[in-house]
Amino acid sequence: MSQEHVVAVNPIFARPGEAVAVERYRMPIGEMLPETAFRIVHDEVMLDGNARLNLATFVGTWMDEYAARLYAESFDKNMVDKDEYPHTAIIEDRCWKILADLWNAPDPTHTIGTSTVGSSEACMLAGLALKRRWQHARRAAGKPTDRPNLVMSSAVQVVWEKFCNYWDVTPRLVPISEEHRTLDGHDLDAYVDENTIGVVAILGVTYTGAYEPVKRIAEALDRIQRDTGADVPIHVDGASGAMVAPFLQSDLEWDFRLERVHSINTSGHKYGLVYPGLGWVVWRSADLLPEDLIFKVSYLGGETPSLALNFSRPGAQVLLQYYQFLRLGRSGYRAVQKSSQDVARYLADSIGAMGAFELWNDGSDIPVFAWRLKSGHTGNWNLYDLSDRLRMKGWQVPAYPMPDNLADTTVQRIVVRDGLGMDLARDLLDDIRAATDFLDRLSGPMPTDGAVPGFHH
Ligand SMILES: Cc1ncc(COP(=O)(O)O)c(C=O)c1O
Repeated sequence: MSQEHVVAVNPIFARPGEAVAVERYRMPIGEMLPETAFRIVHDEVMLDGNARLNLATFVGTWMDEYAARLYAESFDKNMVDKDEYPHTAIIEDRCWKILADLWNAPDPTHTIGTSTVGSSEACMLAGLALKRRWQHARRAAGKPTDRPNLVMSSAVQVVWEKFCNYWDVTPRLVPISEEHRTLDGHDLDAYVDENTIGVVAILGVTYTGAYEPVKRIAEALDRIQRDTGADVPIHVDGASGAMVAPFLQSDLEWDFRLERVHSINTSGHKYGLVYPGLGWVVWRSADLLPEDLIFKVSYLGGETPSLALNFSRPGAQVLLQYYQFLRLGRSGYRAVQKSSQDVARYLADSIGAMGAFELWNDGSDIPVFAWRLKSGHTGNWNLYDLSDRLRMKGWQVPAYPMPDNLADTTVQRIVVRDGLGMDLARDLLDDIRAATDFLDRLSGPMPTDGAVPGFHH
């Protein structure tokens, strides 16, 4: 069989009588010793990047040893099986009520929420609730419901384009520009009409980490309501920022303090500080989630409401989230996010001072920032080349184009998460300086064949 169809097993690990090659795309005929199977899988993923050096992802890559113990004790729990794991279900409820309180819901005990696989599922559910509420209101008024639209910035995360595609909603993208770098309420009346199911405001734009000014968006919608009667709710996509702002910018009004904010999502697995596989969505009050989206699941001989796209999914992450809430408390979360932000500000200041670059933002919202090459600095290299050079040192620092209206602008972004301390940051800066010096010394342009962004939001 040709080499491309087999996975080779080092004879050191294969016991006598065991195969030293296994078919890549077909299940083996017989069994194999667990040690051998372990070694094959273990070795195969050895070439994955080092998660701690991955400065592209927002997703948590480190938890402490007690979290690891709890994870190992609970990886068999199925979140949907509330009958079998009633206490995991109780803890799930506790967690979203804690979030409702953190996000200043007027009455956290009368909110409704759920855990999800991640922010993507949470956004889908929040979007569905907006659509269903709008449909009910339109039907009650005897008006058509066939052309719903959702208004958001052109810099939304891909999940919102998916939502619109999967659930037949027209996306209305407000283009960002040099003057309006985020959705800021400007010109909103040109996009919002009676068919608008809601406006998405992003707390921590994926491209740059900048907050969209939710309060200004809400004020623009208040004006629109006064002028046209259209009462358009806001969903805040706080995938990252909803677990940062409560601790670092507690005076910023972006949450349920604004009446127009109906729902908020976050990723437990981003700045919620939990391993991947966890998101949350909470509604300001239970009445904002249409009853007909909720299914009844039997639970302790009674019934519990269920709102989810998935059926079975891991329950362990929910327990890990509760562990972090207890372990860190508000002051612990503040300390962790603040130290990430200090590192982000330090990196941003240092990169901004390097001469070749111009900062897009400085990490003072979430601990994420982006920069671009100074116009006229060089024609010999670009940020994709810098990204490649850093990759040689193990760092993943993506470069990518901004969305449509600014697609000619390439930026590079660093996401600082728990685990990237000042020491690593200094090493990273040394490597950025060395790579930039190397590229600046080139006597001609880097070859561009096949140089395309390898990163997608
Ligand atoms: C603003 C925003 N929304 C949604 C998502 C999707 O989140 P998840 O990966 O948790 O599904 C992301 C991920 O980066 C994001 O940045």
